[in-house]
Amino acid sequence: MSNAADWMKQRTEEPPVEPVDLRIDIPHSARMYDFWLGGKTNFPPDRALGEAFEQAIPGIKVMARENRRFLGRAVRYLAGEAGIRQFLDIGTGIPTEGNIHEVAQATAAESRVVYVDNDPIVLAHARALMDSTGTGRTAYIHADLMEPEKILADPLLSSTLDLEQPVGLTLVAILMLIADADDPWGRARVLMDALAPGSYVAVTHPGADFDPVAMASVVEAAAKGQMTLVPRTREEVARFFGDWELVEPGVVPVMGWRPDGEPPADPAAAYYWSGVARKR
Ligand SMILES: C[S@@+](CC[C@H](N)C(=O)[O-])C[C@H]1O[C@@H](n2cnc3c(N)ncnc32)[C@H](O)[C@@H]1O
Repeated sequence: MSNAADWMKQRTEEPPVEPVDLRIDIPHSARMYDFWLGGKTNFPPDRALGEAFEQAIPGIKVMARENRRFLGRAVRYLAGEAGIRQFLDIGTGIPTEGNIHEVAQATAAESRVVYVDNDPIVLAHARALMDSTGTGRTAYIHADLMEPEKILADPLLSSTLDLEQPVGLTLVAILMLIADADDPWGRARVLMDALAPGSYVAVTHPGADFDPVAMASVVEAAAKGQMTLVPRTREEVARFFGDWELVEPGVVPVMGWRPDGEPPADPAAAYYWSGVARKR
């Protein structure tokens, strides 16, 4: 590298700045999640549907926070014990506390992260994901999990990650936004098949089997807001891992996955399944 400016350029790949239509007239999952997390990047339709969900599940804000906490614990595990140095995050969401590169680079400064989301508002905020420290690096790809081949073929992916080496793939609170008919298992599998042995996948997913009545109300509210939302059973969530080897404790309620400190009194209080598995 010839000078500091070149070095900086190498470290981060910024997405092109183009005008985007945020469609603030309809609710978006990224902005509803931001609302539940206490963020400011949300609009009246996001808050209205977010509150409708909260009526059905009063603990929904806690659930969102617990999901986010899982992401932190899973990335710390991957960057620490599992020795992963590169991450592919699908369905990144609006940047918030504990973004993957921050967590991973706190353990291993050289960690590289490719973020992917299909929501223009996440694209608009992607600059906040570009503040790598040390020798680490991040890139943002505006793309859709429905087209996993395009994600894999994106030049930003190949210039940031080496797919010959293990990758930590994170599919955290995204798969429920894809209907069965659109085969979320097949889409995830395309990404998983492209990764080297020793790679990991981390998944969280709202569960259909914690409080089926409350979940049915949420699904109904989502449909009224023109949003696809599919809570799934533990067995359906476990299928995402395929033949990869689940790390302990397997597919469990999100609060029960390797909790920091004391195990929670009621791990099933947040209606999300979670797990991490390793490619053999
Ligand atoms: C509930 S948020 C989860 C954010 C983050 N993964 C987390 O758990 O903290 C879901 C994110 O997935 C994105 N998303 C939804 N469907 C997507 C798709 N088909 N392709 C890419 N991103 C998608 C949304 O825009 C949103 O940012």
